[in-house]
Amino acid sequence: MARVLILYATVEGQTARVAARIAQRLRERGHAVESRRAEPAGMGLSLAGFDAVIVGASVHYGRHPAHLRAWLRERRADLAVLAGAFFSVSLSARTKPIAAQRYLRRFLRQAAWQPQQTATFAGALPYSKYAAWKRLLMVAFVALAGGDTDTSRDYEYTDWDAVQRFADGLALPLSQA
Ligand SMILES: Cc1cc2nc3c(=O)[nH]c(=O)nc-3n(C[C@H](O)[C@H](O)[C@H](O)COP(=O)(O)O)c2cc1C
Repeated sequence: MARVLILYATVEGQTARVAARIAQRLRERGHAVESRRAEPAGMGLSLAGFDAVIVGASVHYGRHPAHLRAWLRERRADLAVLAGAFFSVSLSARTKPIAAQRYLRRFLRQAAWQPQQTATFAGALPYSKYAAWKRLLMVAFVALAGGDTDTSRDYEYTDWDAVQRFADGLALPLSQA
């Protein structure tokens, strides 16, 4: 049994849902999982006692959260000795996988962290959760990319089988460690 920290940064909640699915899968495999939301105000979180760290974050305006990047960078020495995985959630992961990979790689380079496993997952378009200005912005953004612009409903693009495969790919080496 490994002790695993899942740290996720979310704005509208989709990354939290992905993190929850990974946590559930790892628990089913017998691992002890602590799940925490990465807060911009600081987390007061110690890595002591964990065997592995899984970090997830969504992309907004072409970037993952700067506060999470700074937190990872500050702790790079501690992270380097732990098993690590990072997943990125975005709309690009569905429509422009190369761009999604570019966001992911830039984030990890700037965080000076090299996790063993990475993944990009398609996120969601929860129009009903957006404030009016954000809905307008997203319709324009999505229209340019040729996506779903009917704001009378929400869209979820996450491939839950892919999330499960990612979680299973993490669980196996942890069980052997
Ligand atoms: C204001 C805003 C800006 C966004 N910018 C991008 C972007 O630059 N590239 C992208 O691929 N997705 C972008 N997205 C889509 C989000 O990554 C997607 O909705 C994701 O599911 C959000 O995850 P979260 O709910 O965990 O924050 C944006 C979404 C919003 C609301």
